[in-house]
Amino acid sequence: MASRIIPVDTFDLVIFGGTGDLARRKILPSLLRRFRAGQMPPGARIIACARAALDDAGYRDLAARSIAEFGGAEREDADLVAAFLDRLHYIAVDVTGDGGWAELAAIMRPDVVRAFYFSVRPELFGPIAERLHLRDIAEDESRIVVEKPFGRDLASAQGLNASLAAHFEERQIYRIDHYLGKETVQNLMAVRFANMLFEPLWNNHYIDHIQITVAETVGVAGRGNYYDGTGAIRDMVQNHLMQLLCLTAMEPPAQFEADMVRDEKLKVIRALRPVAPEDIVLGQYAAGADPSYRDDVANPESSTESFVALRCTIGTWRWAGVPFYLRTGKRMKARSSEITVVFQQLGHRIFGEDLASHRNVLSIRLQPNDGIDLRVTVKERGPGGMRLVDMPLDLTFADMEADQGEAGVDAYERLIMDVIRGDQTLFMRGDEVEAAWAWTDPIVAICAGHDRIPQFYEQGSNGPDDALMLLHREGRRWREIKG
Ligand code: BG6
Repeated sequence: MASRIIPVDTFDLVIFGGTGDLARRKILPSLLRRFRAGQMPPGARIIACARAALDDAGYRDLAARSIAEFGGAEREDADLVAAFLDRLHYIAVDVTGDGGWAELAAIMRPDVVRAFYFSVRPELFGPIAERLHLRDIAEDESRIVVEKPFGRDLASAQGLNASLAAHFEERQIYRIDHYLGKETVQNLMAVRFANMLFEPLWNNHYIDHIQITVAETVGVAGRGNYYDGTGAIRDMVQNHLMQLLCLTAMEPPAQFEADMVRDEKLKVIRALRPVAPEDIVLGQYAAGADPSYRDDVANPESSTESFVALRCTIGTWRWAGVPFYLRTGKRMKARSSEITVVFQQLGHRIFGEDLASHRNVLSIRLQPNDGIDLRVTVKERGPGGMRLVDMPLDLTFADMEADQGEAGVDAYERLIMDVIRGDQTLFMRGDEVEAAWAWTDPIVAICAGHDRIPQFYEQGSNGPDDALMLLHREGRRWREIKG
């Protein structure tokens, strides 16, 4: 089979926050995997910057320890790791002061792609952008990469956008939502727009409702400070679930091109109707096998939600009358992220009432076992008349990967290489982020009301009972959460 590695140009990737958690857990291991895959050109360099007084050798030691901890299968290969570590450099930089910037300017090379990864707190985005610009380290073709949280409401997101826009054009800014880098998210677009089968049915004439679930088994221990001031709506709904909803609901773009795709997503966000207070359910995990949410965040009175379920509607011709149910939570029954499209019942039943309980259901699994499964009603095998059963047509992508010789590519690997290639399709545009906050802010405001105390739910459960009622009251039910 022909190689599926798409070459990228030689690059200098500068990581601000190079000694931080994200760099150690995700960015370095992802780059190592791309290095092993042969996608990193011979002259490509990674230049880490942080406050610590280290030199190249000291940083390589730190990176080696990170790889030993988070490097997956590649960490076993000592020659590979050593060759990768040679690509790493370090410069101590004071991102809000003057120290280190001259050294950084001096090390940069002409005629290679320059990408600057802001793996730092959002308050530092502006100061770094300004210094890169004023010291001529960033060029017209340079790219900057920023991470979530991109603001905590519309006003702060607008402030961040303005601080970047003062020095960089939108075509240079790559806002990461790592859900967009997940394999199945791209496959969702392929399924919708590369097949005759689904798109004609993808509307309110044929679809009853859509569910989007991102369930996690982890709690918030270790990041209680951040999480308790944030909650599930800001941490997950405004970004990850919103992106999944956009890709599920958007109109087909004229071409698979960054701005055409993002224009269509933006239209979905703008067409989302405000969510009614009775369509929001908040939950917080109680003590169980592991400590309670309140213990995890060391705040005995916390009313921050670790679970949220919402019923949303999109005011367009395609989606009028089709509810989208979203839910996400920590310490739930299983780790499972899934989009479920439930089709309507048939208008006429030739097999009698039996058919009433059968429907076509398409589920798109992001994790684990990413794949797509379509439930089709067929006749049960054997004699004894016409008995109907639902059977899955199951496409598990992990099987495909085994055939094609490359194990699953992590979201960060894909996204970092897209930055180097200059492809913004899987990154959020500034107007998209602002529109998402404009929709989310009123939900957060409703939840901040005095009577909105999250319900406790059991660890390892489906979340609070009211979340079940959100669908039951309309004669529907959530799809079971299965790992
Ligand atoms: C992050 C959130 O953006 O996504 C975390 O801040 C969450 O709270 C994580 O756990 C989930 O990502 P994944 O890829 O593990 O589903």
